[in-house]
Amino acid sequence: MPASPRWLLAAALLLGSLPALAQTPAPPVPAGSPPVPRAWKTGEEAAAIERRIDALLAQMTLEEKVGQLNLWGRGDEFRLEWVEQGRTGAVMNFVSPMEVRAIQLRAARSRMRIPAIIALDAINGFATYMPQPLGQAATFNPRLVELASYWSAREARAVGINWTFAPMIDMTRDARWGRVMEGAGEDVHLASILAAARTVGYHRGGLATSAKHYIGYGEAEGGRDYNSVWIPVSKLWDYHMPPFQASLAAGAFTVMTSLSAMNGIASTADRHLVAEVLKGQLGFRGFVVSDFESVKELIAHGQAADGPDAVRRAFGAGIDMDMMAGLYDAHLAQLVRSGAISEAAVNESVRRVLRVKMHMGLFEEATYDPALAQRDLGTAEARQASLEIAREAVILLKNENAILPLKPSVRSVAVIGSLATHQADWQYTENAGLPRVISPRLTDALAAILESRVRVTAAAGFATHCSLAAGDTAGAVATARAADVAVVMLGEDCEQYGEGTSRAHLDLPAHQQALLDAIIATGKPVVVIMHTSRPFVLTRFIDRVAAVIQAFHLGTEGRTALAEVLAGRTNPSGKLPMTMPRATGQVPIYYDRLPTGRPRLKDFRYETGYLDEKLEPLFPFGFGLSFSRFTFDQLTLSSPTVPRTGTVAGSVRLTNAAGPAGQEVVQVYVRQRVGQRSRPVRQLKHFEKVAVAPGSSQTVTFRIPVQALGYHDDAGRYVVEPGEYDIFVGGDSNATLAARVTVTE
Ligand code: BGC
Repeated sequence: MPASPRWLLAAALLLGSLPALAQTPAPPVPAGSPPVPRAWKTGEEAAAIERRIDALLAQMTLEEKVGQLNLWGRGDEFRLEWVEQGRTGAVMNFVSPMEVRAIQLRAARSRMRIPAIIALDAINGFATYMPQPLGQAATFNPRLVELASYWSAREARAVGINWTFAPMIDMTRDARWGRVMEGAGEDVHLASILAAARTVGYHRGGLATSAKHYIGYGEAEGGRDYNSVWIPVSKLWDYHMPPFQASLAAGAFTVMTSLSAMNGIASTADRHLVAEVLKGQLGFRGFVVSDFESVKELIAHGQAADGPDAVRRAFGAGIDMDMMAGLYDAHLAQLVRSGAISEAAVNESVRRVLRVKMHMGLFEEATYDPALAQRDLGTAEARQASLEIAREAVILLKNENAILPLKPSVRSVAVIGSLATHQADWQYTENAGLPRVISPRLTDALAAILESRVRVTAAAGFATHCSLAAGDTAGAVATARAADVAVVMLGEDCEQYGEGTSRAHLDLPAHQQALLDAIIATGKPVVVIMHTSRPFVLTRFIDRVAAVIQAFHLGTEGRTALAEVLAGRTNPSGKLPMTMPRATGQVPIYYDRLPTGRPRLKDFRYETGYLDEKLEPLFPFGFGLSFSRFTFDQLTLSSPTVPRTGTVAGSVRLTNAAGPAGQEVVQVYVRQRVGQRSRPVRQLKHFEKVAVAPGSSQTVTFRIPVQALGYHDDAGRYVVEPGEYDIFVGGDSNATLAARVTVTE
């Protein structure tokens, strides 16, 4: 059952480097009713599937074939009878167990008896919520990320879902874009390893995956969702492709296009990148689904004149399945009859859909049993997993005078902000009429952990539970004044993140800043918890508060994990998966930038920088404090020279010099000093989360294949150049401990 070796292998194959996870055990197999893992079959089994598809295709009418290429969902138009009529091969957004069962029974009554795929965006949970993917990435722990996907899958599976529109593995360096929380942040090495981990986790939990959004969606200009994207070939292959390659290598069943246009071609009409690159060059065997109505949106993109034209463009580009536009349903058969599209091409797309269904094992699967929902939703194990992941996702950004963990001398704590004081749950179970899983208030979680002599008081401070409007500021101030320490939870929730939530301002909304200012003015020490789904700008208050914790939406048990950190029961080990800017105007800002001819050396006008802000970010990628003080030294490489076919092997000593037992993420960055083109000032090539006992040291080794140090040229060719490479090792992307290695021919 342990699936880790498969994603380890996938990531290793792809990146040429085995991520250093030898110390992380395979995830435990949860008890209960383990789902059937989804996996591509091989050898004779795979060959038999192709023969079975031949036989089915030979019996199908053109309409039945087109039916397999339609993805319909809950909505005005769709009728359940269509499943029985063979008019749809897949459905989405049905989350009630009885409805799912009805869909399956109808598919079983259709003439060809082809089972339906039942899809949902199970991004980070169904009943029990795991941290959002950006929060998961902050753990720098692929084992936990796999576990998060496993539970998200398993709970969605419990209501009969078998396909998820996840993982979202778009790369982004722009916190203005609302969908950064669905991905793994700004770094391609971390994101690729986590893309593989998430893919495997979903499969283990019983869902087929859809790697999305192919490709470049996260580069939306200005951070405006759906906006156009411009990506040169070298960057496409160095930065955007690797997570897709990792997900495919880990067995992704399907790929979803994006809603945007890259280099002037809408992703859903991009024949080169879909038909030639994805299906050809990368050898993808599954099917490609359009994003929501994106076949129809080709008209708005100005790349199709009308419905039939949109179908010609999308289908011709290699889009096998039409999500929710209804245009394949309306026009594809007619386009075949008129000779505009060949039936052979339709057969090929249907083959891909049937192949996925057969490799998923859908044809053999028993009809879904709604009793599963009662048994498998909101279990203690899922909650435990959610807590374990949330603990490692808490990022401590500032801790002046070690105010945290709260000292025994603290007798009262005021918890302020409705994000902390309301009970939370999530929508799916409610929509499905299933029991809700409630996330505890921070106040309750904290009171439960702190000894009873500590008084925990609460004030919502805002008018809405999502902190969207000002509320009782005076009450919040009075509550803070009466306590020894104020913990203020701010940020964004509800409709403030995800698709269609771009921001032009990354500072706190004015009413939140005003409340915080009022609390700071009490003179009490203030601990701020940023509960956001993207990096915010903290510059306006960072110097005036004692501590700051960053929480990228930590899920059902997130507030328990936060309480544990406040109380010192959990030593934080989360690291920033995205750079935190000092000002919105610095965005996009990221650590693996190219050097400039005029670096900032003397604070002089004709050097890169701003008139009105520092050049550096507020916190760099990979940053996160611990209650322990870690030091790095004794960096050694096994050899000063390595051939191009070799491996850079080295070690470093990591010491837990002060404080409790803790975990540190050892990060190894590489810079190619001179190349045919400018190379990034540093790039993460290896990381490992290591637990160190108080006062003790560990020697941590790393191995980076030289083949992982190259880049793509403008023609898309991968090159690894001989010459000098600097290695930097430390606990964030500003690591200063350095060594040099020469790569020889
Ligand atoms: C999003 C996709 C999502 C789909 C179905 C679209 O609007 O871009 O990521 O999978 O909706 O919910």
